[in-house]
Amino acid sequence: MKLKYEVLPDEKIECCREICNELMAFQKSKSYITPELFDNMNFETRLIPSINNAVHNYTVVVKDDDQIVGYVYSNISPKEAYSNEFATFFDLSSVNRDHVGCLSQFYIKEEYRQYGIGSKLFHMSMDWIKQFDDVEDYFIYVSNGNTNALEFYKRKGFTVSHDILDGFITVLRSKREIGCNH
Ligand SMILES: CC(C)(COP(=O)(O)OP(=O)(O)OC[C@H]1O[C@@H](n2cnc3c(N)ncnc32)[C@H](O)[C@@H]1OP(=O)(O)O)[C@@H](O)C(=O)NCCC(=O)NCCS
Repeated sequence: MKLKYEVLPDEKIECCREICNELMAFQKSKSYITPELFDNMNFETRLIPSINNAVHNYTVVVKDDDQIVGYVYSNISPKEAYSNEFATFFDLSSVNRDHVGCLSQFYIKEEYRQYGIGSKLFHMSMDWIKQFDDVEDYFIYVSNGNTNALEFYKRKGFTVSHDILDGFITVLRSKREIGCNH
């Protein structure tokens, strides 16, 4: 297995269409609370609007022989982006700064899991988010039934905050560690 990690510019996000749709189908297959909500979730309705609405985007794809086998998509967005007609993802007053970081989409094809690829992508994503000095709050949203992902993020230092949409989504959060310069 000879893997390549590539940061994907926003203009090339189309490359993620198939793998993003695979993530949505995977999440639906795990879900037991209103799984039908996934029926409207796909590359066009989830990834494209996120890219367009965020202030900064970061997508890394993993390729095996030029085939995309995994990706992680993170962004920095105004906190208000998380209070809309679909849901209020967190109490806006619990975030002091104007913007939040989010690890938004993450998927490794099944046969490539458990080799450390996810951990590498996770750390790349966190290193990117931490560059933004004016962002202190980081979020990850896990859909119901995906215990494996939930445990993965907990082991990486995220904490379960609360559930939204009657348990459809679990909100995990983590806070920027403020560095000490003296
Ligand atoms: C969640 C996900 C991205 C993790 O990716 P991954 O590549 O399997 O992750 P890793 O291999 O880095 O880590 C998985 C576990 O395998 C273990 N592992 C890593 N390398 C290993 C190896 N060579 N041999 C055995 N185990 C190994 C790790 O210890 C890790 O356990 P930890 O979480 O306690 O550290 C992946 O399972 C996935 O894509 N799932 C489906 C989609 C999904 O759930 N996405 C999240 C939506 S919110």
